[in-house]
Amino acid sequence: MKSKASAPCKVILFGEHFVVYGIKAILGSIEKRVTVTTTSTQEKDITIKSKLGEIKIPTSESYEKIHSPLIPFVFLAKKFVDKFNHKGGLEVIVDSDIPSGVGLGTSSACCVAGAASISGLFTKYSKEEILKLAIEAEQTIFKETSGADCTVCTYGGIIEYGKKDGFRKISSESEFHLVIANSLVPHSTNKIVSKVKKFKEQNEKTFSSLCENESKLIEKVNHAFANNDLVSLGQSMSENQRYLKQIGVSNEKLQSMIMLAEETAYGAKITGAGDGGCIIALTDDKNLNQTIDKLRSQNNECFSVKIDSKGLDTF
Ligand code: PMV
Repeated sequence: MKSKASAPCKVILFGEHFVVYGIKAILGSIEKRVTVTTTSTQEKDITIKSKLGEIKIPTSESYEKIHSPLIPFVFLAKKFVDKFNHKGGLEVIVDSDIPSGVGLGTSSACCVAGAASISGLFTKYSKEEILKLAIEAEQTIFKETSGADCTVCTYGGIIEYGKKDGFRKISSESEFHLVIANSLVPHSTNKIVSKVKKFKEQNEKTFSSLCENESKLIEKVNHAFANNDLVSLGQSMSENQRYLKQIGVSNEKLQSMIMLAEETAYGAKITGAGDGGCIIALTDDKNLNQTIDKLRSQNNECFSVKIDSKGLDTF
């Protein structure tokens, strides 16, 4: 018996970090995917195989004892082995189009595709149920998750997400490309979220006025999407970057990449937790190649993506 599912990675177009404090964010899933294949085995083991490594544990072992970035898969596998009183074991194989830990949501895509693939071996769940499971799995590595990443990886497209309000799809006819450039500086979402928490505690007034600005910016962005106004969207990206810089999640390397991209793109910013990871630049057919050439001229690793409209897919 085999069950296969894939989920898209994502970019945060607007509102990362502020979303943790209740401000709405706008995210898009991208045409780069994580695919998870689960097979039922005779041996009573849970085996996870991915580019991050391989682990094999007896089905009787508790997931809490495991120290591995693959813990969300063990959590999910264990949950279904126990729930369905599965007599054998499970082999879970993870394949990803892009590397993990660069702020493009591979871990959320892993949790969503993992939840769908593993549950699919035993039962048929709705997208809503899979999302709930995926968020629980993500919490095993990142307790404070806002849930935004898993939501966009499940439903696909562009969404507005608020912790309290849930999500709303944004329909956009804008034909844009995102150029993604990797700073190659490793980062940890957990650590950066804690750093922002400290900033907030020490600068309550500044942080609350930045939250207000971000909220207004999200409203402006919604209008820009409705009017297919790429110039305004790009300017809003660069504006958002200024707020992110103020809360301390940018750095010299990221700033210089952003400035370079802004010479030809409509706008640019970090995506995700920051302090490393990737930047995104907004382009269309007119300035796509120029922006890529510009970033590559300074030896930056970059590629372009379009927004994915499919979200979670099961086979
Ligand atoms: O870099 P990522 O993909 O882990 O994004 C984190 C986004 C934050 O807003 C910083 C945290 C969250 O849970 O939304």
